[in-house]
Order: sequence, then C-alpha cells, then structure tokens
Amino acid sequence: MNPIFPSILSTNFFDLEAKLRAFADSGIDFIHLDVMDGHFVDPISFGPSLARAIRAKFPFRLDAHLMVSNPEKAVPHFIQAGVDWISFHAEAAGAEATAGLLGTIRASGRKAGLVLNPDTPLERLRPYLAAADYVLLMSVFPGYGGQSFIPATLERAAQLKKEIAARNASCLLQVDGGIHPDNAALLQQAGADLFVVGTALFNAADIPAQIRQLTNHVHWSRA
Ligand code: DX5
Ligand code: ZN
Repeated sequence: MNPIFPSILSTNFFDLEAKLRAFADSGIDFIHLDVMDGHFVDPISFGPSLARAIRAKFPFRLDAHLMVSNPEKAVPHFIQAGVDWISFHAEAAGAEATAGLLGTIRASGRKAGLVLNPDTPLERLRPYLAAADYVLLMSVFPGYGGQSFIPATLERAAQLKKEIAARNASCLLQVDGGIHPDNAALLQQAGADLFVVGTALFNAADIPAQIRQLTNHVHWSRA
C-alpha cells in the first residue's frame, strides 16, 4: 500500500476531480479527509457527503481525520458514508470514551485511529496502542494546511515507535502536517509508517513527479 496519503484540505474544489485523477494514475491508494467542525478547530471543512462523492467515482480507500469536538456523534456518519479508516483526537474524546469509540469503529469493520496534537503528552496514547489500528501524531497544530513541520515530532515518533514495539502492538504510526520530500525520509527513519501530505502535493506543478519524489524517499511500509 502506498504510504503517502494526500490530504485534500488545501485544494480548490473545482480542481479536485482532476487532482484525484492524477493521484489515482500515480498509484495513490488512500485519500486523507480533514473533517473540521468549526469548534474543535476554528475552520469548517466538509462532511461525509464528500466521502460518498469520492467513493462513487474513485477506487481510493478513505482515511477520515475527525477534528471534531464530539467524535462519538460524527463517527457513525462516516461509517455510513463508507469511509475505510477513521481517526479522532484523544483531546476530544476524553479517556473514558476513547476505548469504546475505537471499539465501535473496529466493530464496523473499519480501521480505528487515535490522534494526538503536537503538545499533548504521548502518555495519552499509551493505554490504547492495542485498541487502535493506527495512531496519528500531528506535526502541525490542526486546522490549516500549509504550516511548517514541527521538528520535535521526529523525537516523538521515535519514542512512540519504541512503545508500540515494547508492547508488541501492531498499530501503524501516521504523521500529518508540513510533510514534504525533504523531511519524509527523516520521518521514516524515526519510525513513521504513513505520511499525510497536503500542500506539498497540491501545490506541485507536476503531481506525478512529486508523488514519485515522496515515495522514493520512503519505502512502502507493511501497511
Ligand atoms: C491539518 C490537517 C493536515 C493538513 C496537511 O489540520 O490535519 O492533514 O491538511 O496539510 P499540509 O501537508 O499542507 O500540512
Ligand atoms: Zn489531517
């Protein structure tokens, strides 16, 4: 599976179909959907209807990153829309609800992911490493594309990868925000398996070439 997950947040929706076609022709398997509710993060982006529209036209698997204050309410809508992977923020779900919500997503046959903001301690993820299929470390503060990669993410990724291995957990490590060809290899060395890329792809003059650039810097994980 191609470890590059393009995020469509930064795209002009009138260009979206052409960009998705370019991704499909370049061997992209997953599209990352940045769902924003205007409350957990200030911007409002899009909902499950966009997921349905993409699925109706393209063969991609969809990875919904829920930047929403009430993920328990949102998750069923994305399951219904046929999204394949669903991640939500540990900061939004709270400790009690997190295990249950991961279980709900898994019980529906989807992959369950837990997301951590750059300033949230890794301890918040530790209890769920066996209950999650993937963990997403934000390398920018959520809400906007085009931000700069936070370098401390490299150390956090290495630390988290060690903890996943120490527990014999099988969850994959996804990183999201400010990723481009120059830092993707460093992130892979730190232990990242999956790479969400928005601006560095959507602003590329030659998308297939940029995808080759990115995938040349990272080997395809076991994912
Ligand atoms: C930010 C989103 C990221 C972002 C990635 O809240 O979660 O997925 O869109 O875009 P770039 O690669 O532009 O940082
Ligand atoms: Zn995202």
